[in-house]
Amino acid sequence: MPGTFGSYQNEIYLQGLAGTVPPFTTDPDALEASARERLGPGPFWYVAGAAGTGATARANREAFDDWRIVPRMLTDATTRHLGTTVLGTTMPAPVLLAPVGVQSILHPDGELATARAAAELGVPMILSTASSHTLEDVAEANGDAPRWFQLYWPNDPEVCLSILDRAKKAGFTALVVTLDTWTLAWRPHDLDSAYLPFLRAVGTAIPFSDPAFRAGLEKSPEDDLPMAILRWVHLFTGTDKSWDQLAFLREHWDGPILLKGIQHVDDARKAVDAGVQGIVVSNHGGRQVDGAVASLEVLPEIADAVGEQVDVLFDSGVRTGADVVKAVALGAKAVLVGRPFAYGLAHGGQVGVRHVLRSLLADFDLTLGLSGHRSPAELNRDALRARR
Ligand SMILES: Cc1cc2nc3c(=O)[nH]c(=O)nc-3n(C[C@H](O)[C@H](O)[C@H](O)COP(=O)(O)O)c2cc1C
Repeated sequence: MPGTFGSYQNEIYLQGLAGTVPPFTTDPDALEASARERLGPGPFWYVAGAAGTGATARANREAFDDWRIVPRMLTDATTRHLGTTVLGTTMPAPVLLAPVGVQSILHPDGELATARAAAELGVPMILSTASSHTLEDVAEANGDAPRWFQLYWPNDPEVCLSILDRAKKAGFTALVVTLDTWTLAWRPHDLDSAYLPFLRAVGTAIPFSDPAFRAGLEKSPEDDLPMAILRWVHLFTGTDKSWDQLAFLREHWDGPILLKGIQHVDDARKAVDAGVQGIVVSNHGGRQVDGAVASLEVLPEIADAVGEQVDVLFDSGVRTGADVVKAVALGAKAVLVGRPFAYGLAHGGQVGVRHVLRSLLADFDLTLGLSGHRSPAELNRDALRARR
């Protein structure tokens, strides 16, 4: 339905006449602080924290300020069509839910709540390998909605194949292979409280329910939890693999494959040569390399280099409708949003994720229209000006 996301604004104001206000803030800048009040320090910092000094996470946000939208008038943008199709997946706006692991640290329903909220809006979710619910249960909660699967590429090929097979059977259509987290970065916020959810058996639902993983254990996870955890921690983020090994995934996954974590033009070209269909320009929300380039900073050069050959998606730092406008104008087919929906989840599960998503999509819809555009397809660099 054209332009309907923006009507969330009318709904909020009308409900205000009956004395009802939104369940929590619509202000992206206030969302993090509000989530902090609801979470213990371990879970809060696991989400909010970043690698090292947090310089990359800060750069991600600052990079959006380096571009400014130049609004155009009298363009007849009253009726808008936000929808798009990326790698065969139709979506109501160029926005997907980023893979975020261990969601049960934020709400007991975790990924199930996210899957339900995503399905209500038709927004595709990307399920993390580090899910706290099995991929079959998440698929069921997600119903007929579009969904992709994010792979942390396990070192054991049998386990990898088994997980891919389950994902296919559960209706996940595209595979997002995360390359930037083959080991965890130095994250002082988590280190200071010695908080790592996986060691507490959170985010292990997929392997622990996997026949190939279980077959490799002497005792089941139910009988010997510490050994199962240790084996998975050893396996699951993989080691730094090589470009030629991508052939293995191409051979065993018949849908589109995207590589997540690309920040260099040469790596984007290698992705094209490796025969994948998409890339996600991402620095994991600044959670991996401290002192790195902002993801938005490298988006234009990467989109220029490979945007004709593969679908270029973007994440790291997207918080507002204007951010979506800017990323799409700089060459992204769609963006992934991470921490904001995680904070929404912390505010009441499905309802919280829904509110955050509706707010972001309403903001995007209105900003798109007010800047003079009827669809994301009309956005290009003419819509922006670099800050001097
Ligand atoms: C708590 C948390 C957990 C995450 N878990 C994963 C994961 O399991 N797999 C993955 O590919 N990326 C993961 N990411 C990274 C996101 O997919 C995404 O790249 C990042 O959050 C985007 O930045 P943003 O949070 O600034 O939007 C995680 C991010 C956060 C905040």
